[in-house]
Amino acid sequence: MRLSDDMIKALNEQIVMESEAASFYLYMASWCEVSGHDGASEFFYNQSDEERMHMLKIVHYINRLGTIADISTIREPPKNLTSLEEIVRTSLENEQKVTKSIHEIITLAEKERDRRTFDFMQWFVKEQIEEEDTVDRVLQKFDVIGRDKLAINEIDKYMKSLSGSGSEPA
Ligand SMILES: [Fe+2]
Ligand SMILES: [Fe+2]
Repeated sequence: MRLSDDMIKALNEQIVMESEAASFYLYMASWCEVSGHDGASEFFYNQSDEERMHMLKIVHYINRLGTIADISTIREPPKNLTSLEEIVRTSLENEQKVTKSIHEIITLAEKERDRRTFDFMQWFVKEQIEEEDTVDRVLQKFDVIGRDKLAINEIDKYMKSLSGSGSEPA
């Protein structure tokens, strides 16, 4: 089976998106590490690793179907971070953009009757649901626990508790 040109383009764009997510999470992890949010830092380092794993999954998929994955330049992550809450909110927005992009690939696969890519992308659909839910739960904590130093410390601990579990499939 050969991928269509449109599909190769869409998957290559997804590789860029996953790489950008990995790089943005790495910057977030660094910001948190320097700002004393150790739990959040661990959480974002883990997220960054996961995004790289997502990127590699797509690279392998394209390569195995006979086309060399196009490894393009990625944008520099935004570096105007000011608070943990802002970082978490930005993460959720980014994940929502990624979800939308994955759904577009699936729509293209349906249109092309590309059953193989359609099936391949289902893992990403589940992964996005998990990631969005996790980040959304963290974001809700700011309303529930608060935004003073003690509250932020609690949220930081909560994020540390999340980073060990990961969202790898069994
Ligand atoms: Fe991802
Ligand atoms: Fe993600």
